[in-house]
Amino acid sequence: MVHINCSAIILAAGRGNRMLSDTPKALYQIGGKFILQHLMDSVIQVGVKSVYVVYGYKGAAVMENINTDKFKIPVYWILQDELIGTGNAVQRVLPVISDSEEVLILYGDVPFISYQTLQRLHSIKSQCDISILTATLPNPNGYGRIIRNQEGSVVSILEHDDIVNDDQKQIKEINTGIFIAVSGHLKFWLNTLTPHRLTNEFYLTDIVHIAYQSGYVIHTMCSTDTFEIMGVNSKSDLVYLDRQYQKRQVQYLLSSGLIITDPNRFDLRGTLVHGKDVNIDVNVIIEGHVSLGNRVKIGASCILKDTVVEDDVVIYPFSIIENAKISFQSKVGPFVRLRPGTELKEKSHVGNFVEIKNTRLGERSKVRHLSYLGDANIGTQVNIGAGTIICNYDGIKKHHTIIGDNVFIGADSQLVAPVTIGKRAIIGAGTTVTKDVPAGETIISRIRQFSILNWKRSKKKK
Ligand code: UD1
Ligand code: MG
Repeated sequence: MVHINCSAIILAAGRGNRMLSDTPKALYQIGGKFILQHLMDSVIQVGVKSVYVVYGYKGAAVMENINTDKFKIPVYWILQDELIGTGNAVQRVLPVISDSEEVLILYGDVPFISYQTLQRLHSIKSQCDISILTATLPNPNGYGRIIRNQEGSVVSILEHDDIVNDDQKQIKEINTGIFIAVSGHLKFWLNTLTPHRLTNEFYLTDIVHIAYQSGYVIHTMCSTDTFEIMGVNSKSDLVYLDRQYQKRQVQYLLSSGLIITDPNRFDLRGTLVHGKDVNIDVNVIIEGHVSLGNRVKIGASCILKDTVVEDDVVIYPFSIIENAKISFQSKVGPFVRLRPGTELKEKSHVGNFVEIKNTRLGERSKVRHLSYLGDANIGTQVNIGAGTIICNYDGIKKHHTIIGDNVFIGADSQLVAPVTIGKRAIIGAGTTVTKDVPAGETIISRIRQFSILNWKRSKKKK
């Protein structure tokens, strides 16, 4: 990593009024990660000395949810108790930064700025007093516009709501909000800021005109990647950026050999590692950390969260799997729900409308239709008939069930936990097992079938 002698200030105190929500903007998620976390994870790669995050609206929730554990540089949280503008937000931090230090300003709602762009912006700072990252957008609505004089020098930034004429409307060069300047200069410029005549807020962008008038040198660098400079100011910005983010992830996964049937119908909300010849059908959502072995096939509309799937596993459509381990050559689905703590051993089969929780299903064991298995340890080559239920909860406590190798459980049985079924035992269909079953025994508890002679149906009343 290149180390740069510079501190970063991230402005994340704002409420995000245009989101029309009580959630602080920093805590909206894209790809399963808070937007502020995306930005911070990128910023630590820039090689800055320290990061100052300005927090305010619902600040406790913001601090609690942003993970800085893996950061090797100090992160300081600075409170902006009155949300009176981006200029004021920066002013809150500067007293703790020495005047000679360079400061990189970032906006918490511009989450995907790349560390490479920031390093390049820093490299031009040595030739000027402010280096500003700009972009040229076909539709610059909502962004501050870069105003230049006839010589092409930057003279000010004009906020979107302050545009008064058509010439200004034509300007496509926008302020990304990201710039670098020396702390002492920033203090000086910010001290002369006056509140905006309409909003009463102190606009950080006004320092550009102040600096220009005082003869400071202002340089710009233009980003050509719209994705990295886009701000999240509305719900429509959020979903647009989320889709763009997903498309980039899909491109990366495709280039690493995975097949995703329709890139527009795939969501990765976390991290995915995979082997060769993996196939993912439409509408699949991957959350948390998921690992897929070689030749794994995931059917349409499955959700996998924090799960390990080994080689040659097939997951049929509409299966929802969380915190599970599926061993090689197993088959799961369609319509299966595997809840946390499920472990399916090699070549096991779990079929339609089966729910499993905190249970180990042994090698080559099968539970193919309409069952619930909870808190159980099931041996190898066990066959669990359709409609079998493990009654693991007595209303107060959960209890454990053990099923030995080669057990056969007939359809529509209930196993009332705690209960142990010994190896090779056979449970007749429709049995309610309430006591332990010794190895090799066959038990049945349903009432015998008998005939009622000459029974006549009562006639329907008319
Ligand atoms: C800002 C810029 C605009 C630029 C755009 C780029 C100003 C005045 N305008 O507009 O020129 O084109 O970003 O995305 O800066 N914040 C605080 N404290 C406050 C107010 C805001 O910390 O008192 C934070 C917000 O949480 C947000 C960031 O500053 O992360 C930017 O604020 P926002 O209201 O989104 O500014 P924009 O209107 O997007
Ligand atoms: Mg914004």
